[in-house]
Amino acid sequence: MKQPVEGFSKLSKSQKIDWLAKTYFADPEKAITIFKKYWNDDTKLQKLHDEFIENTISNYYLPLGIAPNFLINNKLYTLPMAIEESSVVAAAGKAAKFWSRRGGFRAEVIATEKIGQVHFTYKGDPEKLRTYFKHIKPTLLSDIAAISANMEKRGGGVTGIELRDRTDALKDYYQLHCTFETLDAMGANFINSCLEQFARTFKKGAQEYSGFSEDEKQVQIVMSILSNYVPDCRVRAEVSCKVDELNEDHMPPREFAEKFVRAVEIARIDPHRAVTHNKGVMNGIDAVILATGNDFRAVEAGIHAYAARDGKYTSLTRASVEGDTFRFEIEVPLALGTVGGLTSLHPLVKLSLEMLGNPSAPELMQITAVAGLAQNFAAIRSLVTTGIQKGHMKMHLLNILNQLQATEEEKEYFVRYFKDKTATHQSVTEAFYKLREKA
Ligand code: MEV
Repeated sequence: MKQPVEGFSKLSKSQKIDWLAKTYFADPEKAITIFKKYWNDDTKLQKLHDEFIENTISNYYLPLGIAPNFLINNKLYTLPMAIEESSVVAAAGKAAKFWSRRGGFRAEVIATEKIGQVHFTYKGDPEKLRTYFKHIKPTLLSDIAAISANMEKRGGGVTGIELRDRTDALKDYYQLHCTFETLDAMGANFINSCLEQFARTFKKGAQEYSGFSEDEKQVQIVMSILSNYVPDCRVRAEVSCKVDELNEDHMPPREFAEKFVRAVEIARIDPHRAVTHNKGVMNGIDAVILATGNDFRAVEAGIHAYAARDGKYTSLTRASVEGDTFRFEIEVPLALGTVGGLTSLHPLVKLSLEMLGNPSAPELMQITAVAGLAQNFAAIRSLVTTGIQKGHMKMHLLNILNQLQATEEEKEYFVRYFKDKTATHQSVTEAFYKLREKA
């Protein structure tokens, strides 16, 4: 049985790799060579990556692709997308081109409110707690003056603190529910620093508050943390056109429009379909989030909670045909940053943001929502016409050929060969070995 390793964090990077290779790999030398192959020759750049996390042993590459021709609020963008899935970038580019010829995407930020909570236990008279909250609120705000000075100078800061009684759901449980405006920062550090100070002030104030009994003074702070559920940090994007303009799919435009709307309605009422439908949306959103150095786990968690806000998981997008107008829209919560964190550290993130014209956080919210809408449009368009596999496998073809260790010549041959045929893993493998037999 393997034994726990002692003092691991004190080992050098090479020592960590040696330990790992010897402990887990049949061919340690080969494993070490592969880990090291992904190191960057530029030692300064490598050190930057090493220091993003603990115990870095190598770099894990994702392709960074671009999708041009995104016309958003009459401005043309090229979207950076970091993603491994073969067909996503191609689909985004296709949807962007399609809508750029039909007026483009329109997007607006609805609100930019971030949320944080101090969760605490109080075993006393709720009325006294409410009175105490009124008494301590000005001190809560004044005690974070040093933390919030810079944010306030730029026009942001704390926008509200409420006492919430949650004892209906959990015995003796209350919250300070706090709202923030964090401008171009995602704001996690700012929010958490404010919350931890609120918690200290709140606890100390309770111990000194003469309106409480000795027992009531013992407020227990359970935790202080931002919430990744930000339904009021929300953005909306849409496209619309005359039904007749939906004329690129070898299908009568009205039939296409109605089938498309039907597909979205199915995702609105059926959670199994809704999850896959929204996964397609997230293909676009996550790719932009990753490329711009934002936190895709936070965004994913918040968006899926939003999709289930009415107690049932549903589609993030809506589609309609009214008269002769087709409309397709999305509304999603997105807490993003374009300053701070990785945005000022990771060289590719900096280039991604520059490619987008160094947007403000609200502008990045609009771009990201559009990426989700475009991706969803492309997926449904394929699903209700040719089926998804045609485009998907065309892109996946190169992955299969790489697995088969095809030469560049063979790859070129098969890309031509499968242009008018359906590529499946089996059909590509068979055709590949047939060609090799002949050679
Ligand atoms: C695949 O990554 C995404 C799709 O499954 C989305 C959808 O079904 O709408 C194609």
